[in-house]
Amino acid sequence: MIKSGWVLGLFSLIGIGLVSLTYLVTHEQIAENERLFVLKNLHELIPESLHDNDLLENTVQIVDSSAFGSEHEVTIYRAIKDGQLIALVASPTAPDGYNGSIKLLVAIKKNGELMGVRAISHHETPGLGDAIDTNKSDWIYSFNSKSLQEPEIKQWRVKRDGGEFDQFTGATITPRAVVKMVLKTLQYYKANHNVLTNTDE
Ligand SMILES: Cc1cc2nc3c(=O)[nH]c(=O)nc-3n(C[C@H](O)[C@H](O)[C@H](O)COP(=O)(O)O)c2cc1C
Repeated sequence: MIKSGWVLGLFSLIGIGLVSLTYLVTHEQIAENERLFVLKNLHELIPESLHDNDLLENTVQIVDSSAFGSEHEVTIYRAIKDGQLIALVASPTAPDGYNGSIKLLVAIKKNGELMGVRAISHHETPGLGDAIDTNKSDWIYSFNSKSLQEPEIKQWRVKRDGGEFDQFTGATITPRAVVKMVLKTLQYYKANHNVLTNTDE
């Protein structure tokens, strides 16, 4: 009985050790993969010819949870060339997707015009809400060159709500959540333009 207990205990310890080791190894790999995926999307949004800084190094962290209306922190990546801010990319999280949060990258030129938007992580339903991915549809490109002036604010909705952006067939919740967060990001940029574009540090 005592011997069986020791054997059982030993196997449990080995099991725990293996799980911890797997976590340690994969955890770092997952973090690195995420970093590379963000970088790939940042470079898609802001071509390397437009900046001479390391986008992952030159960031501002927005911890104020009320700023974007969700509890997630937002990183702002800044693209700088010859000491001048060219554009920035915010990483807000839309909290109200069909299956939870949708993490976005929203690239804004210094003049407030959108360079583009990408969904970098979400759990939306394949075949319905996942049309926000560039490899599923072109929908997310419809933000290119939009701004707070074009279209006017009341058009910053999906068509079903009287706005300008398409919804997907049988799926309105996902695009509605994305449009809402992109608008919020443009409004945040407008309100905090002076601080965010100041590169003297
Ligand atoms: C299993 C299942 C998965 C769904 N996934 C999504 C989704 O990922 N995104 C979405 O917008 N709607 C999804 N829908 C549809 C929504 O429930 C909703 O009907 C649709 O978004 C239209 O919303 P509306 O009536 O407010 O326009 C899903 C429905 C079902 C039954």
